Amino acid sequence: MDSAHAFQVYLRLRPPHAHQLPTADDPFLTVLPPSPTASDEDIEKGIKSQVTIHPPSHHRSQKIETFSFTEVLEQSYGQADVFGRTVAPILTGVLKDGRDGMLATLGVTGSGKTHTILGNKQQRGVAQMSLDVMFRSLGDKVTLLSAAQIAQCNDAESEILGCTSFMNKVTSVVEPSAIPKPNSAPTKPSGEPYVVSCTSSSSTKYAILMSIYEVYNDKIFDLLAPSNAARRKALLFKSTRSSGDRKVVTGLRKVMVTDLYEGLQVLGVGQYQRSHGETGSNDKSSRSHCFISLELKKLKRSRLDHSSTTIKEATFTIVDLAGSERARNAKTAGDRLAEGGHINKSLMFLGQCLEISTQATVGEGGKPVAPAGVKIPYRQSKLTELLFTNSYNPATQPQIASIIVTVDPAGDFNATSQMLKYSALAKSSVNRRPPMQVLNGSRSVSTTSQASQASQISQGSGLSGATTLAIGTDDSGSSSGRPGSAMSQDAANMIAELQRQLKEAEEGRKEMERKLAEANQRCLRVEQEVREEVTSDMELQMKLMQRKMLVKLEEGTEREEEHVDRKLDMLKRTLLVETNDENDRARDVEIEQYVRELEAENYALRTEVMSLKRKRANGDSPLKERSLNRLKF
Ligand SMILES: Nc1ncnc2c1ncn2[C@@H]1O[C@H](COP(=O)(O)OP(=O)(O)OP(=O)(O)O)[C@@H](O)[C@H]1O
Ligand SMILES: [Mg+2]
Repeated sequence: MDSAHAFQVYLRLRPPHAHQLPTADDPFLTVLPPSPTASDEDIEKGIKSQVTIHPPSHHRSQKIETFSFTEVLEQSYGQADVFGRTVAPILTGVLKDGRDGMLATLGVTGSGKTHTILGNKQQRGVAQMSLDVMFRSLGDKVTLLSAAQIAQCNDAESEILGCTSFMNKVTSVVEPSAIPKPNSAPTKPSGEPYVVSCTSSSSTKYAILMSIYEVYNDKIFDLLAPSNAARRKALLFKSTRSSGDRKVVTGLRKVMVTDLYEGLQVLGVGQYQRSHGETGSNDKSSRSHCFISLELKKLKRSRLDHSSTTIKEATFTIVDLAGSERARNAKTAGDRLAEGGHINKSLMFLGQCLEISTQATVGEGGKPVAPAGVKIPYRQSKLTELLFTNSYNPATQPQIASIIVTVDPAGDFNATSQMLKYSALAKSSVNRRPPMQVLNGSRSVSTTSQASQASQISQGSGLSGATTLAIGTDDSGSSSGRPGSAMSQDAANMIAELQRQLKEAEEGRKEMERKLAEANQRCLRVEQEVREEVTSDMELQMKLMQRKMLVKLEEGTEREEEHVDRKLDMLKRTLLVETNDENDRARDVEIEQYVRELEAENYALRTEVMSLKRKRANGDSPLKERSLNRLKF
């Protein structure tokens, strides 16, 4: 058993239905040959642990996904094979080491969960096989608990009964013929019946207590208690005095069974009571999560005081989960739809817990350790609480837990891929390119872009970074079981094709780089041209503005000159009138002198104006000149 994960997760593929016609589509699921990274033992035994799923051609996503499990149990695996691979190691832990164990089946509706656990008319299920192995292994050491021992070990408010009195109670209200009889006959004579050797002293005895309960609409109900659907009492899952930190379902009816026949009778009653309802997807659909609990009490008589007994217990719980379904597919309504809602919700929480717990590693004392800072949210629903509490309780030895994920490779692609996504121990995906035809002598082989698989592969399922690589498969899904020479011919073709694709991609990349460099050059040229254009435009504007200012300045100067001339004329005329006065000749001379001075001044001013104009023409600010002129006049 792989010890790197808190749970062993097996993938069981169901064979096609007897009435199922072969479809035109290739199967969407392919089992990969043993991974080169697998242990030598696994490679030697040919243990396969990976599958890929290829979306149908019309599917929106064309991702090829690879999922890894503890082991893939292919269609050819019968019930006994499944038992040997999955349950036998757990039973060894329960019987030999006194450890709790749990096996659950999980899958889309109709994929074979109940079949795996209870079988059908032709084949028995792992529940019957587990009872068989327990009784075979314990032989005549199986006994009934005495009243004192019941008092000693029963603090979970249970009602503990012998099988005869239990069956009497049941058949007093139920027609015996209505109670199903689980198939117990082995399908084919198996070589050596599976037996666990429990080395214990002759005085050690064992009692087996069976209880069966279900989680229905997020409540726990006893399936062995008198049934009155209207007044069923929901039970509690809690710690008791003797269970310590372990949690147990309290208030259950438990039946002491001493042989296989009794065990099968109790199993039949549980099956009878379980809530079944037909859905469009499966005409015998399980509408609740069913727990079959086999409690092993190891009774060791004290050497000193023969009347006292030490009782050690280990419980093996088999869980048949209700199937996830899409309301549209299942055509459910009313109560069935509400049930479906509860089922899907609890399975969604289970999915979350599983996704995180597959990242968990095994720490000291075999305890699963969740990734740092991550909590497994198993308290969100009754189902996850029942499944996970005793695995993650730091105070107790963890249970040995396995999950069988059942899948119908001819079933619904979306539902199956969803199921694989949250149950796989590791996963990776690549995008599929359109298939290409590669000529191989006279036959053509359809290939997927395996090189890009290797380069684009996405790592693990997030937190752990666990990686799995898809190994050469083709779209026909026929990679497994091919003769070696055909495989190597295909592999050679595939390598040649991949090299060609790689070369093409390399050339494409170079061409793109060249185009990019050209585009950059063009950008630089355009930028330069734009800059030059803008600069010359601005220079032109500046020159025009300058010219306008000069014209205005000249006009202003001329106006000023005219104004001075007019003033001088007026002054002359005034002075001429005054010269008529003979008595004031001397003053005339004076005035003439004054006029000459004014004319000289006028001449000086004109000269100055001319010089200013020249300066202006040389680039001095006209505004400054103008203000200077103003000052002078
Ligand atoms: N491996 C198998 N070999 C033969 N028959 C199978 C196998 N798996 C499933 N079947 C048959 O397919 C049918 C549906 O299987 P089953 O009732 O086990 O589905 P389920 O997963 O329990 O569905 P639900 O979730 O609705 O309860 C049954 O008739 C069962 O006998
Ligand atoms: Mg079922």
